Amino acid sequence: MNAVAPTFDAQLRRRADQVKACLDALLGDALAPDEIARPPALLAAMRHGVLNGGKRLRPFLVLESTALFGGDEKAALRVAAALECVHCYSLVHDDLPAMDDDDLRRGKPTVHIAYGEANAILAGDSLLTLAFDILAGPETVLPDAVKTALVLALARASGLGGMAGGQALDLAAESQAPDEQGIVTLQAMKTGALIRFACEAGAIVSGKGAEDRTRLRRFGEHIGRAFQLADDLLDLKADAKTMGKATGKDAARGKATLVSRRGTDWAETELARLIAEASALLAPHGDAARTLVDAAAFVANRDH
Ligand code: IPE
Ligand code: IPE
Ligand code: MG
Ligand code: MG
Ligand code: MG
Repeated sequence: MNAVAPTFDAQLRRRADQVKACLDALLGDALAPDEIARPPALLAAMRHGVLNGGKRLRPFLVLESTALFGGDEKAALRVAAALECVHCYSLVHDDLPAMDDDDLRRGKPTVHIAYGEANAILAGDSLLTLAFDILAGPETVLPDAVKTALVLALARASGLGGMAGGQALDLAAESQAPDEQGIVTLQAMKTGALIRFACEAGAIVSGKGAEDRTRLRRFGEHIGRAFQLADDLLDLKADAKTMGKATGKDAARGKATLVSRRGTDWAETELARLIAEASALLAPHGDAARTLVDAAAFVANRDH
């Protein structure tokens, strides 16, 4: 008898547990070599920002894109944890009063509400730094050239020309609405860049060449775009209890989104189009890409 394939939700949960255990160990009391002390309040703020649930979709994409190429799962788990540190830092800062000013994240008080603004800023700083510590550290066993490629790709995805730059454009768009291409660009930066990295990372970890990297990058670009479109739809349609964060905020703050510009019917059609295109990109991998194709569908159809 064939074993019953686990549902996508069960697969996502299993990966989330793996990455949580890895992050929990990284954020323990024990000092890493050359660290001088781990200030308890800062460590607690970091743990609050990281070990507070979350779908762990980006780590999932790192692990599954690595599995697609038969790459090393242990190394991929470290890369997944590094990326989740950058993502969690982006959320901690996104919620600050100077940015989106939110009190609720993943169903709990945001880090600045629980630990104060200074600790939230420093927790973000320390999580960003920890991400590169994880990638470069000796426990991430990969060829040096692969580690360097990962460091570079994650840095580019995170900084001025990626997530942080996109966040700057997103805030500027509150006072001066960009045109549609401007919204697409800012979303590709603030959200798309990390998701694109997540998908490309599997090819990098597995030592694959330009063709595989590009295919996975393009897949990531499509689902990154779909991801923010779904987030903007959910901000309009879902309730805070289901989402674990405030909803109705985009309209209240006058955020420029494709949903506000084009309406929900268009957005739902566009979501389906993006997911179909994303899935088609992985056709050369056949059945081996099943889980990633399911992940694309999850991005579009999720309810939180
Ligand atoms: C929220 O990301 C921020 C956006 C980029 C829209 P997620 O929806 O992945 O948040 P968590 O990690 O599951 O909490
Ligand atoms: C956030 O976009 C993107 C990040 C880089 C964190 P949002 O501001 O829409 O994310 P939520 O809705 O607060 O999770
Ligand atoms: Mg924001
Ligand atoms: Mg926000
Ligand atoms: Mg949002």
